[in-house]
Amino acid sequence: MRVFSGIQPTGIPHLGNYFGTLINWLKLQNEGHECFYSIVNQHAITVPQEPKLLSQNIIQMAATLLAVGIDPQKSTLFVQSDVPAHIQLAWILSCLAPMGQMERMIQYKEKAKSDNTANLGLFSYPVLQAADILIYKADTVPVGIDQAQHLELTRILAKKFNNQFKELFKEPQTLHTQTTKVVGLDGTAKMSKSKNNYISLVEDEDTIWKKLSVAATDPARIKKSDPGNPEICNIYSLHQLFSNQKDLDWVVDGCINAKIGCIDCKKQLFKNITDFLNPIRERYEALIQKPNEVRSALENGAKKANKVASTTLQEVYESIGFKY
Ligand code: TRP
Repeated sequence: MRVFSGIQPTGIPHLGNYFGTLINWLKLQNEGHECFYSIVNQHAITVPQEPKLLSQNIIQMAATLLAVGIDPQKSTLFVQSDVPAHIQLAWILSCLAPMGQMERMIQYKEKAKSDNTANLGLFSYPVLQAADILIYKADTVPVGIDQAQHLELTRILAKKFNNQFKELFKEPQTLHTQTTKVVGLDGTAKMSKSKNNYISLVEDEDTIWKKLSVAATDPARIKKSDPGNPEICNIYSLHQLFSNQKDLDWVVDGCINAKIGCIDCKKQLFKNITDFLNPIRERYEALIQKPNEVRSALENGAKKANKVASTTLQEVYESIGFKY
């Protein structure tokens, strides 16, 4: 099975990104599928980017992906702009994309609403995403739940091309994770960069504790003697991602029966989160000291990706009458 996914280079991913998407990237890689994973810098510039920061963000994202376990021996990891066929196919698909359908794209509508300087790239973003996927004829696309509509458009464009020209493309399936949403430390529905309610994958212990110690819990628990309800507590929902059954039972009993305080509960969570994140951060710190190794992994990835992508592009050119 062939897999494609992309991630924007807009800062280090956080726990929400890990459980919402990256965990599936790793699973598919480790099951032995043929995975193409791309750092989608061309999508990133649909909103303004500071050039120096963007180039740093690309290397940092690559180092983070390698640190969490994306293995360039198994997966093809590359930067989108190093494989020109994505954009070349995007133009052709954009000539098949119905305006009405494009105007209904939720992510565009939301971004455009909050920023009245929206540009044409932001509008056509989903077509480039479709091209990313179709250029590899991917079967499966592991993404966050917010990307479902873009995947639907991808299938529509594949069908349109196939009907109009030649059966070239597969209709890719979307793969979501079990945990579609990780709650924010402030207790709001979703961990997100813009709300600063997250723990990043390379956060150091001090920062993690600083964030956890003030994180929201069940508001009914003011004193240790106040019983609480773990089901509505975001600290408990994080425990469910990081803690074993014994710890979970201890939290539930301690919270409901007011045997432990929220700080005790957070201390155990801190230990379990840092057991998981410390090795990732250590690998990241080693990699970021050797950016040339990261660059060379990306270069190799681009070579492999270009081979597949340029073959598809030639088939597309042939099918639509560009070969004369
Ligand atoms: N739009 C995706 C996101 O913001 C990133 C992305 C770009 C992508 N191209 C893709 C994801 C292709 C999957 C497949 O998360």
